[in-house]
Amino acid sequence: MFDKLLYIETFGCQMNVNDSERIVSMLADLGYAPTNEAAAADMILLNTCSVRGGAEEKVYRRLANLRIYKRDGKQQIIAVGGCVAQQEGEELLRKLPYLDLVIGTHNLHLLPDMVRCAERGERRSETSFIDNEQRLDLFPSIKGESRLSRFVTVMQGCDNFCSYCIVPYVRGREISRRSADILAEVRQLADEGVREVILLGQNVNSYGLKSADEPSFAGLIRQVAEVAGIERVRFTTSHPKDMSDELIACFADVPKLSGQIHLPAQSGSDAVLKLMGRGYTRDSYLDRVRKLKAIRPDLVFTGDIIVGFPGETDADFEQTLSLMEEVRYIDLFSFVYSPRPGTKAAELNDDLTKAVKMARLDRLMELQRRHTREICHTYVGSVMSVLVEGEGRLVGQVSGKADNGRIVNFTGDCSLIGTFVNVTITKAYPNSLLGELSN
Ligand code: SAH
Ligand code: SF4
Ligand code: F3S
Repeated sequence: MFDKLLYIETFGCQMNVNDSERIVSMLADLGYAPTNEAAAADMILLNTCSVRGGAEEKVYRRLANLRIYKRDGKQQIIAVGGCVAQQEGEELLRKLPYLDLVIGTHNLHLLPDMVRCAERGERRSETSFIDNEQRLDLFPSIKGESRLSRFVTVMQGCDNFCSYCIVPYVRGREISRRSADILAEVRQLADEGVREVILLGQNVNSYGLKSADEPSFAGLIRQVAEVAGIERVRFTTSHPKDMSDELIACFADVPKLSGQIHLPAQSGSDAVLKLMGRGYTRDSYLDRVRKLKAIRPDLVFTGDIIVGFPGETDADFEQTLSLMEEVRYIDLFSFVYSPRPGTKAAELNDDLTKAVKMARLDRLMELQRRHTREICHTYVGSVMSVLVEGEGRLVGQVSGKADNGRIVNFTGDCSLIGTFVNVTITKAYPNSLLGELSN
């Protein structure tokens, strides 16, 4: 029985999106139904990200706004979870007197108890890391979701310590889930009608490397693809240094593996990659890309790039643009470098001016817009297999994802939802494609 309302705002990456689904599922057992209206909610939770400084400040601003609802005299619980919660811990409770609850990235299983405490007016912060196998057994599951495409966590945390990145500090040590548990979850999802799974982790392709009893990530993909009812398998994020030949081979002979891969390069300059501690060179990255393209010519690439890393010269930046020309990403997430407390790069001399950084970002984004436009235009006239996932943007339209991850809208009946159909592409937009159902 639902007798209360829960409002969640999620920032950051897919781990947080997935954790928010866990939170909704756990709190449903306490009688909380999700709502889109903060003012009406009995509990407000911000699931936060601290990967860049701006994201963190956004959370503080957002909390400052949300406390207005509390001041209205309403008995409302205000909670912070995710990576800012992990980073700041109890300090947040001290700084923000209207905050009731702070929950870290390894402590989600404690949330129901903490909410009961908050309902009685007790303020609590739980942010201790559980950096051992026990974490796997405490991991709350998700119930009551009805989407056709679902995340399946295969590993948590990160041990790479790229010099700029805060994730290893806020998500803890890398742990792979047991393959038996992953497969049981995938089978369960298939039984519930899920057709596509997205294998999730900060560095999925290092899956199982620490354990002799578990398959490699390539082996895991093959097992997941064998589950009856699952028609498509995706994964995110993979690290170029762990992109093995065995994994590349999956793109040739696992037909269910999607035609899109997220392979963040971060920079095209060897000098910058070295300072970033990424563990690969420009050449070895491009070698992986070439091998993937040779094995699956229609594969599309997405990636992440950081501009303005400390010491990045004009020549380094040109190398990044030329890497983009070679790869031709269909979509790219680009960020201006932001120093994070406690990371190695934060000690480097960040001498570039804001104007230089912004000018580089603008040039990079301009090039990316051209690549996105050019690649998507080549799709016009082609036929794509689309998993229809819901209603489209316009009345009478349905919408789904093509094998390469592009969103496709087309005129069609809602009875198509849940099925794979062939769609002829008629028009390309920057973020989606328009098509017609083909016979
Ligand atoms: N595990 C993923 C990345 C997770 S963070 C990977 O290694 O690919 C998502 C992206 O944020 C990173 O790929 C990087 O491009 C960006 N990022 C991380 N730290 C940053 C920082 N300090 N400043 C700017 N961008 C950053
Ligand atoms: Fe951060 Fe590097 Fe780990 Fe990605 S691989 S989460 S960029 S430390
Ligand atoms: Fe942000 Fe935490 Fe993800 S810092 S990118 S939400 S792991």
